[in-house]
Amino acid sequence: MSNGPILTIVGARPNFMKAAPVHVAFERAGHHHEIIHTGQHYDDNMSKVFFDDLRMPKPSVYLGVGSGSHAVQTANVMIGLEQVFLEKKPAMVNVVGDVNSTMAAALVASKLSIPVAHIEAGLRSRDWTMPEEVNRAVTDVLSDLLLTPSEDADQNLIAEGKPRERIVRVGNVMIDTLFMNLPAAKARDVPGEMGLEHGGYAVLTMHRPSNVDVPDTFARILSALLEIQQRIPIVFPIHPRTRKRMQESDVGKRFESAKNIRLTEPLGYLEFLSLTARAKFVITDSGGLQEETTALGMPCLTIRENTGRPVTVDEGTNVVVGTDDEKIRSEANKILDGRGKSGRAPALWDGKTSERIVSAVATFLATSPGIRRL
Ligand code: UD1
Repeated sequence: MSNGPILTIVGARPNFMKAAPVHVAFERAGHHHEIIHTGQHYDDNMSKVFFDDLRMPKPSVYLGVGSGSHAVQTANVMIGLEQVFLEKKPAMVNVVGDVNSTMAAALVASKLSIPVAHIEAGLRSRDWTMPEEVNRAVTDVLSDLLLTPSEDADQNLIAEGKPRERIVRVGNVMIDTLFMNLPAAKARDVPGEMGLEHGGYAVLTMHRPSNVDVPDTFARILSALLEIQQRIPIVFPIHPRTRKRMQESDVGKRFESAKNIRLTEPLGYLEFLSLTARAKFVITDSGGLQEETTALGMPCLTIRENTGRPVTVDEGTNVVVGTDDEKIRSEANKILDGRGKSGRAPALWDGKTSERIVSAVATFLATSPGIRRL
């Protein structure tokens, strides 16, 4: 086993808020821990603002791989990380979530016989058209330590034949970040600055290729949203992929100029949390936001046909509405008529997940005689 550092690999926006508390917890426990950034996301408002808001140290390496097709992006991350791992000889590589950088890092580490811990292991949507589902399944096959957020994730891994001793349920690390930053986010009044009343607007995020790259689906969702905005203003921090698609379609152009649609650039972590914490409800196709709304007790409509986070539906405030315009409209009307879903925070979504991650990794390193492949 190497005496080198423990590395956590980040690449895209949803990784940053998961890595922030992990870094703090490793340092607090006296480990040498470094953050490596692949540069999958590179715009300041998709990347740097999160490092600033979450007071994360500068990554010790920034690869700058940028955008590209899945193959190009994944390959560039692999080429860059192989060099980094050969030089740093890490004792362990932590990967988080399900983006291309996650899977690429797991592949490189495992081929160099460096142990891999997957934070947020075991989530499955069973929708193989989603790139994230491929990334999750591959990453879990390659990981030596499977750190899961919820019981359903444990069950998925067991059903796939993963040894139970590799699975450690640690809870939801993104909720550590949420709880830690909620007071600072609430100290800001982003809705007020936009002229919105607390509880008097909805927040929308939408960037999944299956929603925005398929013209019929995109048009159907936008036409439902055009009706909803007649009853309540909708704030929409728009992902670069979606902005591009919006400008290419007629309904997109109509949507952009609708009276009650407030388009903004992608927001930083604190600004966005200031908005979501005081909204009436959230409409999203993001995975993380389904969890954050459950932790906040805020009704959430998920515009996807399935969810990789069933616990947010079983226990939380999430309703999976798919992409049918009628269903999106009727569920939004339910909330506006005071019949929104309530819920509770699932077990181990308690702000202490990063500490449990550190102790699971430390136990693994102390007791594992070497790499044991699944
Ligand atoms: C990626 C993740 C997705 C996650 C999302 C969050 C994968 C397969 N997907 O999707 O799981 O929910 O991040 O945002 O890893 N672009 C910019 N600036 C940037 C980054 C991207 O303009 O900083 C544009 C580029 O035109 C790029 C496009 O956005 O081609 C898509 O970026 P990419 O990283 O390929 O995937 P996302 O859709 O962001």
